[in-house]
Amino acid sequence: MKACIRDTAAAMTAVTAVVALAACGAGAGADAGGGDGPRIALLLPDATTARWEAQDRPLLEKKIQELCDTCEIEHANARGEVANQQEQMDSMITKGVDAIVLVAVDARSLGPAVSKARAAGVPVIAYDRLAEGPIAGYVSFDGVEVGRLQGRALLRAMGDKAPDPQIVMMNGDPADPNAASFKEGALSVLRGKVRIGKAYDTLQWRTETAHMNMSAAIAALGVKAIHGVYAANDGLAAGSISALKANKIDPLPPVTGQDAELGALRRIVAGDQYMTVFKPFGPEAEAGGAMAVAAARKEGLGRVATGEVATRGDGRVPAVLLTPVSVTADTIKDTVVKEGLHSVDQICTPRLRAACEKAGLT
Ligand code: BGC
Repeated sequence: MKACIRDTAAAMTAVTAVVALAACGAGAGADAGGGDGPRIALLLPDATTARWEAQDRPLLEKKIQELCDTCEIEHANARGEVANQQEQMDSMITKGVDAIVLVAVDARSLGPAVSKARAAGVPVIAYDRLAEGPIAGYVSFDGVEVGRLQGRALLRAMGDKAPDPQIVMMNGDPADPNAASFKEGALSVLRGKVRIGKAYDTLQWRTETAHMNMSAAIAALGVKAIHGVYAANDGLAAGSISALKANKIDPLPPVTGQDAELGALRRIVAGDQYMTVFKPFGPEAEAGGAMAVAAARKEGLGRVATGEVATRGDGRVPAVLLTPVSVTADTIKDTVVKEGLHSVDQICTPRLRAACEKAGLT
């Protein structure tokens, strides 16, 4: 029997709702998915960062189906809007789902919705981002370590080329608690070793905003005075690099990233981006899926968890915290390719053939 997956788009119209329900054979448990099994909602934050829809969603669905073939999965993407996600939480609680996997658009603003879910007996698993409020469990990577890896790689790449190195910092969205952890880890390594010429927070992690901010930084600091760019993820790296190129900065300063997106791996092979951070999404989704199924079945999460984290105001909850991996051109093969995130064929477009050979990607 196959679990039924429903898609509730952010701005779901009556028509798409009907289609989604019909596709699931909803109503009186008519479909092969049963309709009697537990229902699990996946609430994703945006369509800006590739990982949520391209990696996390299918991996979570697969794991949930593997563990629970009668489970029904509901999915919604907030498209970067807090109000959408609040509505989606409300709607899932009203529908009476048995558990919610939440990647919060804004950890603080979603706190009341998490409390509402708890009051209604719906456990919320904070996925990747630590949502506020009475969550039942948490699955993520060590975010401070992500920042340290980025900071160390940036120092290594800058070497001693500039006597008084100056960098620009492109940090993530302050509404995402991970952004603060990445920044904290990076600063713990960079402080005292570089000058931070400009630092920006990037609302909704938008690539276009990073492009705009990098253009402003270049105008303020001058084209020759940026020796490195700390970009908190690959989307911000893409925006920064496009602005550096638009200003004809050559050679490009080293730029960091995170997520091992396909575009980033290609930029790394081409020499435009220095590094990314690979966070094995498979193990994260396995832990998240297992917690969601256990929570939906009203079983304890202790069996899935490997530790605990402190939540704001509600004590400690079972957690799984995974280890991130730094990736540069010469380690792509032994990390992301080996782990099956992207294949050599996907990364190595014809334009990159020579560069790929140099990086041992054949
Ligand atoms: C995730 C990153 C992602 C960023 C933007 C963070 O919470 O940990 O992997 O790049 O959000 O979506």
